[in-house]
Amino acid sequence: MTSAYEELKEKLRSQPRRWLITGVAGFIGSHLLETLLSLNQQVAGIDNFSTGFRHNLEEVEGLVKPAQWSRFDFIEGDICVLDDCRHAMAGAELVLHQAALGSVPRSLENPIETNASNITGFLNILVSCRETGVARLVYAGSSSTYGDHPDLPKVEEIIGRPLSPYAVTKVVNELYADVFQRCYGLQSIGLRYFNVFGTRQNIAGPYAAVIPAWFNALLNGEKVFINGDGETSRDFCYISNAVQANLLAACTETDESTGQVYNVACSRQTSLNRLFELIRDRIAMVTPSIADRTPLYSDFRPGDVRHSLADISKARKLLGFEPSHSIDDGLAETTGWFIDQYGAGTDRQ
Ligand SMILES: NC(=O)c1ccc[n+]([C@@H]2O[C@H](COP(=O)([O-])OP(=O)(O)OC[C@H]3O[C@@H](n4cnc5c(N)ncnc54)[C@H](O)[C@@H]3O)[C@@H](O)[C@H]2O)c1
Repeated sequence: MTSAYEELKEKLRSQPRRWLITGVAGFIGSHLLETLLSLNQQVAGIDNFSTGFRHNLEEVEGLVKPAQWSRFDFIEGDICVLDDCRHAMAGAELVLHQAALGSVPRSLENPIETNASNITGFLNILVSCRETGVARLVYAGSSSTYGDHPDLPKVEEIIGRPLSPYAVTKVVNELYADVFQRCYGLQSIGLRYFNVFGTRQNIAGPYAAVIPAWFNALLNGEKVFINGDGETSRDFCYISNAVQANLLAACTETDESTGQVYNVACSRQTSLNRLFELIRDRIAMVTPSIADRTPLYSDFRPGDVRHSLADISKARKLLGFEPSHSIDDGLAETTGWFIDQYGAGTDRQ
C-alpha cells in the first residue's frame, strides 16, 4: 500500500508549491531544504547563522541538481527583525518555521537571548504570515513542553510545568499559534520534536546534542560522559521522520488536522547507556579498536527530564505519519557521514 507520504511527494512533484523555511542553514532546516528541492519545489530560506552554517547550505547544493538549486532563494536575516520576516515571507504559500535557539543549558545561561529568537521571533513570524496571507504555518515545537509531567507515553493533551526557559518558549509558541488561528484564522500546526538526530547536526561546542557530541568524542578518542546513571531515556527520532511530519502537516487538507500540535518521534524508548552501545558498535564496524570503549558518568544535568517517550497515534491518525526509520536505521545512515566529517576514529582515551 502506498503511504500518505509517498502519495504527497508524488503530488508535490506534479504540482510544486512555494515554501519558506526559517532556520534553513540549521540541522533540520537544511534537511527540509534538501527534500523540498529534490521534489522540485520553489523554496525561500532565512537564517542569521547564529547556530546554523553556510556549509550546511553548500552540502545541500552538492546533493541536489543544479536546476533544483536554482529554485532556492536565501535571505540572510534575523527573525527578531519584523521587516526581515516580511521580506522572507513574500510569495510564500507554506512556511516551515525552524529558526530558534535550541538547547536547555543555553537557555538556563542566557534566557533573554533564547526568549528573543524563540518568542519575539516567533511572534514576528506569525504577524508576517498573517500580513502576507500565508496558507499554512508549520512550526517546530518540542517534547520539552511536557516538562515535569510524569506520565508515559506523552500524549499531546497532557503537559506539565516547563523545566527550563527553553521549554517556556516552546509552550508560549503553542499558545500564540492557537490564538492566531482562533483570532485571525491563521492556519498552523505545531510539531513537538523528540530528540531529532542525523547528518548536519552541529557536532561541536557545549550545546551539541547527545548523538553528535558522542560521535565527536568517540571519533576523536575523547572521553564520553553520561549525565546521571545512564538510565535516563529518550525517544530518538531520525531526521527523515521529522521531514516527513513537516511535509504532511504543511499539506494536510482536513479541518480537524489543523490548529493542532503533534508528537514527532518513533514511540520507542532508548536509555543513554543503550544509545552509547549503539553508537560505539556502529563506529566499531569501521574501527574495531573502539569496541571496548566504556562511558564515564557525571552529575545529572539541571533542567533535563528523566524519561521521554511519545505516543504518536495522533500524528498517525490525522496526518498519516508513519516513521520510516528506527533509531538504529538512522544511526546506520548517519555513521558514515560522521566518519567522513571527523575521521575514522582514534584510541586516545
Ligand atoms: N534537534 C532537535 O532534536 C530538536 C528537538 C526539539 C525541538 N527542536 C526545534 O527544532 C528547530 C530546529 O532545530 P535544529 O536542531 O535544526 O537547530 P539548529 O540550531 O541547527 O537550527 C536552528 C537554525 O535557526 C537559526 N536561527 C536561530 N535564531 C535565529 C534568528 N533570530 N533569526 C534567523 N535565524 C535564526 C540558526 O542559525 C540555525 O540555523 C528549533 O526550533 C528547535 O528548537 C529541535
